[in-house]
Amino acid sequence: QHKQIKKICCIGAGYVGGPTCSVIALKAPHIQVTIVDLNQARIDAWNSDQLPIYEPGLEEVVKVARGRNLFFSTDVEKSINEADLIFVSVNTPTKKSGIGRGYAADLGYVEAATRNIAKVATSSKIVVEKSTVPCRTAQSMRKILEANGKPGVHFDILSNPEFLAEGTAIGDLFNPDRVLIGSLDTPAGKSAASSLVEVYANWVKPDQIITTNLWSSELSKLVANALLAQRISSINAISAICEATGADVDEVAYACGLDTRIGPKFLKASVGFGGSCFQKDILNLVYLSESLHLPEVAAYWKQVVDINEYQKTRFTKRIISSLFNTLTNKRIALFGFAFKKDTGDTRESAAITLCQYFREEKAKVAIYDPKVEESQIWYDLKEVGKGDSLEAIQQQVEIAADPFAAAEGADAIVIATEWDMFKDTNLDYEKLYSIMNKPAFVFDGRLIVDRAKLEAIGFKVEQIGKSTRDHGYE
Ligand code: UDX
Ligand code: UDX
Ligand code: ADP
Repeated sequence: QHKQIKKICCIGAGYVGGPTCSVIALKAPHIQVTIVDLNQARIDAWNSDQLPIYEPGLEEVVKVARGRNLFFSTDVEKSINEADLIFVSVNTPTKKSGIGRGYAADLGYVEAATRNIAKVATSSKIVVEKSTVPCRTAQSMRKILEANGKPGVHFDILSNPEFLAEGTAIGDLFNPDRVLIGSLDTPAGKSAASSLVEVYANWVKPDQIITTNLWSSELSKLVANALLAQRISSINAISAICEATGADVDEVAYACGLDTRIGPKFLKASVGFGGSCFQKDILNLVYLSESLHLPEVAAYWKQVVDINEYQKTRFTKRIISSLFNTLTNKRIALFGFAFKKDTGDTRESAAITLCQYFREEKAKVAIYDPKVEESQIWYDLKEVGKGDSLEAIQQQVEIAADPFAAAEGADAIVIATEWDMFKDTNLDYEKLYSIMNKPAFVFDGRLIVDRAKLEAIGFKVEQIGKSTRDHGYE
């Protein structure tokens, strides 16, 4: 007989915790859900009309549930204490210093949140690891809770990794391919898992909720992201062959994807994957493999990240050589700064790296993105800017109010994010052409424009995975 969940606390009001627990509140109106964070500004934003993250459909969900059974608060302790079940969805960035720097996850936030639970809980809790973490983190959490919990207070640990993708988070949460819950193989562990299954069963079909042991669940999250990223690096590696030979990467991906064993999704060649998860999770997997003395396995997965970096430099080299081998003082209109469309998130976005490369080539860059905050762009450019001051960066970079302002007097448009508004069906490329320097180039890093159509206007067009016209191979 398992415990029925009446109150949920979610620690961490970010990209994962916020949407996930908002949807739980929407779909399970009888459960009180409180999302807490140490960051007052973030909580204030969640309580306002201007939510802190842009995600299609999120606002509608929050509006229905907020104040009914969904609450946002900075009173972390109170919320922990009242809850039957606590999601830990704090950030787990890659370590910047010390052993494993650049690879291992910094679990400081997870540990701090866990210690806080142990300190304040006066009744037994189910503690759910939601953040992406390396294998065996659940075990560390259990040890901390057992060592620091009050007498008589029992903790059950579950792993429940989140598979939502940004930009489609609400749809992914409403209709998940699967919900994965890992627990200890003990009666207490299984009963805790049943309690969480019941929460999701409010809207997810039973056969889509799968339960495994803790380690399988933790590892599955890393592996799912590694396999997805690997598909992109695989097709991106092929895009280099296509550019050199005259094969068309979209045609190759389509032809291969029709094989049901391969499948059509996630084979879109691009200037490189970004986002908070792919690189981080693969590097976690690499670090884990090395810690387990499996260097061949580590090297295999590391290649996925290496190809991703290679793709960005390769694209940049093609831009430079097309622009007559110099970018000095040329103006580049960078279309898109988010790591993919329909999000304002820029973490690990290829656009950040491209902009830095253009700066190193002494180009002027005009950035336009429909959703990314200006302050975020400056922050990212400063982080990647090798110690350059903001003033120095701003002498080379400007943020444009629309695509036309960015393209005014530019030698090239570089499409870094596949926003629908950049497609030739939605944007007036004739007008863009008329205000640019000639010859005017479009470098399509996302395969979203019709080359023939743009060439008819007068543009020189270069696309990932498609050869330059005058190669003569066609
Ligand atoms: C393969 C391709 O499937 C086929 O499309 C192509 O035309 C020729 O090459 P084949 O070599 O006959 O066909 O067999 P396949 O079923 O693909 O298996 C190849 C090898 O992979 C076998 O040794 C098989 O045991 C192994 N395999 C396959 C695995 O180890 N794991 C799997 O999940 C699938
Ligand atoms: C990813 C996983 O999809 C999700 O399941 C997991 O929970 C978190 O990590 P996310 O990072 O939000 O989600 O976005 P995703 O759609 O996976 O895209 C990641 C990156 O890959 C983006 O930069 C995207 O543009 C790129 N991509 C994706 C390609 O370049 N080609 C593709 O075919 C697909
Ligand atoms: P993710 O993409 O994994 O959701 P985010 O960085 O968007 O990561 O969100 C994590 C949130 O967790 C941040 O808003 C951060 O302030 C919050 N956080 C981190 N540590 C704690 C803690 N100990 N208690 C409460 N909130 C925390």
